[in-house]
Amino acid sequence: MSSRILIVDDEESASEYLRLILEEEGFSVRTTANGVEALIALETNSFDLVISDIRMPQMDGLELLAHLQQRWPEMPALMLTANDGVGDIVEAIQLGAINYLVKPASRPVLLVAVERALRARPLESAPDASVPELVGETAAITEVRHRVVMAARSDVHVMVTGDTGTGKELVARAIHRLSAQSEGPFVPHNCALAPAELFESEFFGHRRGSFTGAERDHVGLLRQAHGGVLFLDELEAMPAAHQAKLLRVIDDGEVRPLGAEKSEVVSVRFVAATNRDPALMMEERTLREDLYYRLRGIEIVLPTLEERSEDIPRLARHFSGESGLGFTPEALEALCAAPWPGNVRQLRNMVQGARAIAGEGRIGLADLPIQAAPGSAPGSVPGSDPAILLSDAPRGTSLREVERWAIKQALADCGGNRTRTAEVLEIDRSTLRRKMAEYEIE
Ligand SMILES: Nc1ncnc2c1ncn2[C@@H]1O[C@H](COP(=O)(O)OP(=O)(O)OP(=O)(O)O)[C@@H](O)[C@H]1O
Ligand SMILES: [Mg+2]
Repeated sequence: MSSRILIVDDEESASEYLRLILEEEGFSVRTTANGVEALIALETNSFDLVISDIRMPQMDGLELLAHLQQRWPEMPALMLTANDGVGDIVEAIQLGAINYLVKPASRPVLLVAVERALRARPLESAPDASVPELVGETAAITEVRHRVVMAARSDVHVMVTGDTGTGKELVARAIHRLSAQSEGPFVPHNCALAPAELFESEFFGHRRGSFTGAERDHVGLLRQAHGGVLFLDELEAMPAAHQAKLLRVIDDGEVRPLGAEKSEVVSVRFVAATNRDPALMMEERTLREDLYYRLRGIEIVLPTLEERSEDIPRLARHFSGESGLGFTPEALEALCAAPWPGNVRQLRNMVQGARAIAGEGRIGLADLPIQAAPGSAPGSVPGSDPAILLSDAPRGTSLREVERWAIKQALADCGGNRTRTAEVLEIDRSTLRRKMAEYEIE
């Protein structure tokens, strides 16, 4: 049987536009002019999807959503908005809406959103228990788990921000795992490692022979991620011109590979991550505001480890593994007092290293490269003098080898924090990024 869709909009021309397209596709459609009428229709008929305007007289779309959650919590809802009234959208997602469409939505965008909303699946009611990979009990990380679940249940794009090693990729993968796209691919793409000249071909793909060197067809990231999630890591490294092209794809869902005659509609969910502050990037004009607002259907801000230091013992036990005997009290105390510029990643590396030394036994202070005194630094925190670093360099090796070695050392010392590593090496972040790619340093 065809799916039944209830449209709610006070603007008749808007609902007729949707009805026309949807009926042509074989959906059965009913239109109502406001939330009150919609509730009456819902009481007396059954529907598979509600598409509702947000701003309407009598009962608006947000109030309608609240009623839906109460009475028909499994009913997927898509919201319509005349502009990018971002505030409304965030609220709508919190109230359980699956996604939103900016009016007037083009036919392909509408149909993709409808089809995806019909496949959305409600999550069980104790949601944050379903994200066990995010270890921690503090309020800060609990809120993150809530947002992961909210993001997974909805169909909006997601922006994940947080310092290096705080768990951005972990969050992106958890969203994919819990979402309706879990059967589809998870395609990670690091914007900092991609050569800028290849952007078009990398994202859109190309046909064989479309340019010199294009020896075979290339699918491209967007088509590769069709039906799944495209994870745009280190978004801060994407040039503004590319951001504009990406935004166009997000808005119309169409992809035309280089050298192809026709474009294809793709259905991709975007999760973007950055360790910079989006507000700052927009001020500097390195992040396009329109792209940011499109990507942050939900924004998830990861706390630093320092902001949730009460979680350190729990995380430490988690990383030290089941087999061992845990930690001595002094070791735990020292871990809690140490600064963690590399956040959870740095803690994980240190604990795993200590576990290797301690074997099955308890991990003591001596197994950790930190001192007992509170406020002491973990690892050999780099001085600002690069000569100290280089004094240990392997002799008789090529300059390239030495450079690669110095970068790896500095990265380890800074717990993987690239900003600090770049400072220590006295190069800028983009140079560091380029050299890391060149030397294949992870
Ligand atoms: N809450 C957490 N619970 C358990 N493990 C975590 C948590 N947060 C992060 N980790 C672990 O820490 C490591 C770093 O996480 P991840 O790669 O997701 O960080 P990131 O924010 O993407 O860092 P970067 O900005 O450097 O790319 C991973 O091994 C991840 O599994
Ligand atoms: Mg990452």
